[in-house]
Amino acid sequence: MSHSPISPAILYWGTPVVLITTTNEDNTPNIAPMSSAWWLANRCVLGLAANSQTTLNLLRTKQCVLNLPDDAMAPNVNSLARTTGSKEVPEFKVRLGYRYEKDKFAVAGLTAQDSMAVTPPRIRECPVQMEAELVGTHTLMEDEPSEVKGLVLALEVRVLRTHVVEEIRLAGYANRVDPDKWKPMIMSFQRLYGLKDGQVAESTLAEIEEEKYRILQTFR
Ligand SMILES: Cc1cc2nc3c(=O)[nH]c(=O)nc-3n(C[C@H](O)[C@H](O)[C@H](O)COP(=O)(O)O)c2cc1C
Repeated sequence: MSHSPISPAILYWGTPVVLITTTNEDNTPNIAPMSSAWWLANRCVLGLAANSQTTLNLLRTKQCVLNLPDDAMAPNVNSLARTTGSKEVPEFKVRLGYRYEKDKFAVAGLTAQDSMAVTPPRIRECPVQMEAELVGTHTLMEDEPSEVKGLVLALEVRVLRTHVVEEIRLAGYANRVDPDKWKPMIMSFQRLYGLKDGQVAESTLAEIEEEKYRILQTFR
């Protein structure tokens, strides 16, 4: 294999899409698609633009729902792309062709469903919904020149409650998801993908009993 050095403008190698719901100042719900998210124990770290409406809502209310669309929900995700809940669209987004949208549920053809532990609604059409609270905020790019410093935040949320549809549960277990049935939507270099059917090979990691990871969590 021969490698060449390149300088990509983005490093989006492929991560699941998350539709984050938050509550606006006027108590209406907002939805934002994002995919710079990673998971550890009962935490998720969200990489978000500091000036997005979702970030402002999260910092103010400390609450959100992380809704995971499956790979059939591209039309919904595309309807939300290049929209913002910010009435004053930031200059950078204007240049990228973003527009203000007040009612993201209507725009995306999605249905709000009451949450149990937080105020922002869940998205009924998403097979996975995680109610969560903000527990930590970290500023990224502190090492960069002042124009970009602080433009991106890593927000740590604690998942309080997870809801999944029956179709993706692992038979015989109360708390497990069947990875053969769960089809996350993946964003790779701005394009939308699904996972190929089936495992590429047996996984050595999967020999570890899943419940052993619960020790990392502090449930209330
Ligand atoms: C598939 C997809 C993935 C995205 N990933 C991110 C992301 O990881 N972080 C981010 O800040 N914005 C991401 N965006 C852009 C946000 O959706 C955009 O900033 C949007 O205006 C946020 O909405 P809001 O201003 O109403 O919060 C993504 C957009 C799409 C369509």
